[in-house]
Amino acid sequence: MKDVVILAIESSCDETACAIVRNGHEILSSKVASQIDVHTKYGGVVPEVASRIHVENISIVIKEALVESSLTMDDIDAIAVTVGPGLIGSLHIGVLAAKTLALTYHKPLVPVQHITGHIYANAFVDELKFPLLALVVSGGHTELVIMKEDYSFEEIGTTQDDAIGEAYDKVGRVLELPYPGGPKIDKLAKEGKPVYQLPRVHTDNPLNFSFSGLKSAVMQSIKRCERNGEVLNVADMCTSFQEAALNHLWSRVEEALANYDVRQLVLAGGVAANSRLREICIERMKKHPDVSYIIPPLAYCTDNAAMIGASGYRAYLKGITADLDVEADASLELV
Ligand code: KG4
Ligand code: ZN
Repeated sequence: MKDVVILAIESSCDETACAIVRNGHEILSSKVASQIDVHTKYGGVVPEVASRIHVENISIVIKEALVESSLTMDDIDAIAVTVGPGLIGSLHIGVLAAKTLALTYHKPLVPVQHITGHIYANAFVDELKFPLLALVVSGGHTELVIMKEDYSFEEIGTTQDDAIGEAYDKVGRVLELPYPGGPKIDKLAKEGKPVYQLPRVHTDNPLNFSFSGLKSAVMQSIKRCERNGEVLNVADMCTSFQEAALNHLWSRVEEALANYDVRQLVLAGGVAANSRLREICIERMKKHPDVSYIIPPLAYCTDNAAMIGASGYRAYLKGITADLDVEADASLELV
C-alpha cells in the first residue's frame, strides 16, 4: 500500500502543536509550543490568553514540523485537525489553520476528536488489539472507552463531576503548588506516606468516576489541621490524595475488565504520565495475563499533534473527511 503522510494540528487547550506522521505510527516530526509558563502565573489556563498565544505560535509550529521532517506540502496526503472538544477560541485557531492549508494546497481535511487522539497515541508503541479498553485520564476527561474494532468508540464510564486531572490541579492549588498540580503532586507523593484518611467514593454506576468529594475531603483536612494548630505535611497529603484517587480509578478499570471481554488495555491522556498510575497498571495487570496493555510514552501522554496524526490516519483510511465549512465544537462527543 502507498504511504500515507498526515500533517496534524492540535490546539484544543494550551498547547499549539503540529506533527507529521507516516502510516499512522511513524512520527517524522512533532512540535509542541507549550503555554504552561504563561498560565502558571494565573494558576490555570486563561482561555483568552491561550487563544492569543495560539495565533502567535500556529504558523511557527507548522513551519518547524515541515522543516524537521524534510518534507514539503507536496508530500502531504491530508491535513488532520482537532475539531473538539476543548476551549472554543483555542480550537478555532487550529481549525482555521488546517482549513487554510487544505484550501491552498488542495488536500483533504480530516476532523479528529481529541480523545481519539489520546487513545491512538498508543499506536506509536504497539499495534492495537481489539476489542480494546481505553482508560482516558486527562485534565478534561476521565472515561472508560470500549473499541470493538479500529475507529469505533463506545463510552462505558465517565466522571460524574471533575476529571481526574482537574482534581489533581485543584488539589495542587489548595496545597499552594504551582499550576499544573498533577506533575507536582506525582513528584511530592514519592516522598510522603498515605497517613491522611480520605473517604472511599461511591458511584451508583460502578463504571463511573467521581473526584469532587476527594477534593473537598482534602480541603477539610487542611482546615482541620489549621484549626488544631498542626502543620500539614504536604508530601503526606499528596500521597494520601494520589493513592485514594488512583485506587478509585483502578477499581473502575477492574470492573470494566470483569464485565467486558477485551484483549488489550491502553492508558491515554495527560494523567497517564503519572508515575504511580503507570506502576499500578504494570502491577495490577499481572492478574490479567490474557489482556495485554500499553502505556504511552511520556511525551505522547499530554497534548501533542502526533496523536492527532495517528487518529487522523485511521479516519482518513475510513474516508472520514470534512468540508471547509466544518466548525470547531467545544463539546464534541466521542462517536
Ligand atoms: O491531556 P492533557 O495534556 O490535556 C487535556 O486534554 O486535558 O492533560 C493535562 C492534565 C493536567 O490536569 C495535568 O495536571 C495532568 O494532565 N498531568 C498529570 C501528570 N502530568 C500531567 N497528573 C498527574 N500526574 C502527572 N505526572
Ligand atoms: Zn488532551
